[in-house]
Amino acid sequence: LNYRVPRTRKEIFETLVKGLQRLEYRGYDSAGIAVDGPGKENNGNGKISLFKKQGKVKALEEELYKSGSVDLEAELDTHVGIAHTRWATHGEPSPLNSHPHRSDKNNEFVVIHNGIITNYKELKKYLNSKGYEFESETDTEVIPKLIKYLYDNRENEYVSFSTLVERVIQQLEGAFALVFKSIHFPGEVIATRRGSPLLIGVRSKYQLSTDQIPIQYNCDYNGGVQKKNIINRADSSNSLHSICDRKAVEFYFASDASAIIEHTNKVIYLEDDDIAAVAEGRLSLHRISRSAGEEPVRVIQTLQMELQQIMKGNFKAFMQKEIFEQPESVFNTMRGRICFDTNKVVLGGLKDHLKEIKRCRRLIIIGCGTSFHAGVATRQILEELTELPVMVELASDFLDRITPVFRDDVCFFISQSGETADTLMALRYCKERGALTVGVTNTVGSSICRETDCGIHINAGPEIGVASTKAYTSQFVSLIMFGLMMSEDRLSLQKRRLEIISGLQRLPELIKEVLSLDDKIKNIADELHHQKSLLVMGRGYNYATCLEGALKIKEITYMHSEGILAGELKHGPLALIDKDMPVIMVIMRDACYTKCQNALQQVVARQGHPIILCSQDDAESAKNAYKSIELPHSVDCLQGILSVIPLQLLSFHLAVLRGYDVDFPRNLAKSVTVE
Ligand code: G6P
Repeated sequence: LNYRVPRTRKEIFETLVKGLQRLEYRGYDSAGIAVDGPGKENNGNGKISLFKKQGKVKALEEELYKSGSVDLEAELDTHVGIAHTRWATHGEPSPLNSHPHRSDKNNEFVVIHNGIITNYKELKKYLNSKGYEFESETDTEVIPKLIKYLYDNRENEYVSFSTLVERVIQQLEGAFALVFKSIHFPGEVIATRRGSPLLIGVRSKYQLSTDQIPIQYNCDYNGGVQKKNIINRADSSNSLHSICDRKAVEFYFASDASAIIEHTNKVIYLEDDDIAAVAEGRLSLHRISRSAGEEPVRVIQTLQMELQQIMKGNFKAFMQKEIFEQPESVFNTMRGRICFDTNKVVLGGLKDHLKEIKRCRRLIIIGCGTSFHAGVATRQILEELTELPVMVELASDFLDRITPVFRDDVCFFISQSGETADTLMALRYCKERGALTVGVTNTVGSSICRETDCGIHINAGPEIGVASTKAYTSQFVSLIMFGLMMSEDRLSLQKRRLEIISGLQRLPELIKEVLSLDDKIKNIADELHHQKSLLVMGRGYNYATCLEGALKIKEITYMHSEGILAGELKHGPLALIDKDMPVIMVIMRDACYTKCQNALQQVVARQGHPIILCSQDDAESAKNAYKSIELPHSVDCLQGILSVIPLQLLSFHLAVLRGYDVDFPRNLAKSVTVE
């Protein structure tokens, strides 16, 4: 925020806190704020005050008011405040790990960050060697340290704040939306992004003189950025282009419009590598270089949406939003972990235990609900890649059976929330018996994270819909990456590994292709939504798809649905088949194809009218289908990631058509913390 009109510090806090509260729906575990202060003078007399708190925004707000460390009634006429809710990716939720992060004890530079910096270890090592000390376990903290390092080593040249930021982001790999503030540049704020969303709200008392903001390019860097050399970079002079006069203008930077919509509906969406600077009440945008065909402007758009709509984007429900996020969430799971050039897979959270894991006699995968299905889905490929027996267990049943567990077992606990009581009890049970425990969760700092010996964070981003969707595909990918990591030195498996790695690389694109079938799936839902029951049948790699698809349908549509192993058809389920029973069959071009065709014949022979999920080139299946949904082809063991998506979409449309609350189905909870 940059105020050109006098405001009390209290009002500034209130605006920031309100903005954070508007983002609460996305899930977070801690919050923090930095403002100028604590004094009465403008720009806080060259100081920055930081407040950070684990837990709810409300707790942070209470802390702000009760601390008494800043003058709340002070009137400020130019002011920059930044605030953040953190959802942990590196380091558990705690005040130290919360944002804003700072360069040093004097808070010379403070930064808030959304995203993941994948090369933070490298940068941290370098900065450590230069004497910079770190106080948190986060990836983010390298950013304020790095900007201070560049500032401290600027020698005699004048370097603007945005130039410093430009130099910082040239060193960063991964995804980020960043906002910087500094005591060396009072009244200024710099924001930039790559891969994570960031927008600027513009509020003015007057009509804006333009609806387009020109971009200033820094041509010195055009073509060749010396990426790795953080010491001897040549400076660039960048004169910033001003778009707003020194009128009363307020600028709001936010990762989504819900945080700012009550102040303004005029927004500029930043693109990757845009650098936005506000100084002296003026906004300017610049980029390092201009690529061919790129428009040298950013347009100020007028949002017409209501707050509720903005939170969900164009989606009717969080579940739908999360289904459509899967190209990105799956990519984020792989980000920084798979090197597609060298075919190496490194899961940082397991690397130190890999030797021990390789010596084990058996893998046991334990979870509940959808998380259990991720284990079923990857069991076969894990057996192939690790050459170990793999058991997949429902946590409750595993405990009921008092299953024998040995010291040379490695036990995986799959849980989106990391808090599911049954899974947590199973973890404690396995620990008592001396097994090595591995957590696969979406929530850093959760109980399962803390209590396991090591783990994989699936990085899918917060999941709000009770019915799990993107967490499933990210758990799936995480377990596959584990298999790849285990098989790295197995000569006989190299061809297979390469096939899977290139399949993973294509996955986000193929997921997009599957999502484009949404209209067709909705039409099928139109036909099915009055039915009472729906069977989902398949085998091999896609058995898990059937279980998971049926679970989605049960959870949110309240229809009876069963995932059936096609191999068991003759042993009972065939009795259910007649001309009226809706059946979905998953038939992919893998080793089970012929057997699936047999099952299809048996269904058709009983007047069944199956809806078939099949490969794009499969005329044989399509010809026997009442309706077919044709999917792009991937590697056999990854196909389940694609085949589950039409069933996620189908359950969503069925629930909407039946008039149910998709995100909060009756009787169910997102995180089941009781046995
Ligand atoms: C509940 C949720 C499911 C989820 C299961 C396991 O039943 O409603 O969506 O799959 O718990 O949760 P977890 O957080 O351990 O993955």
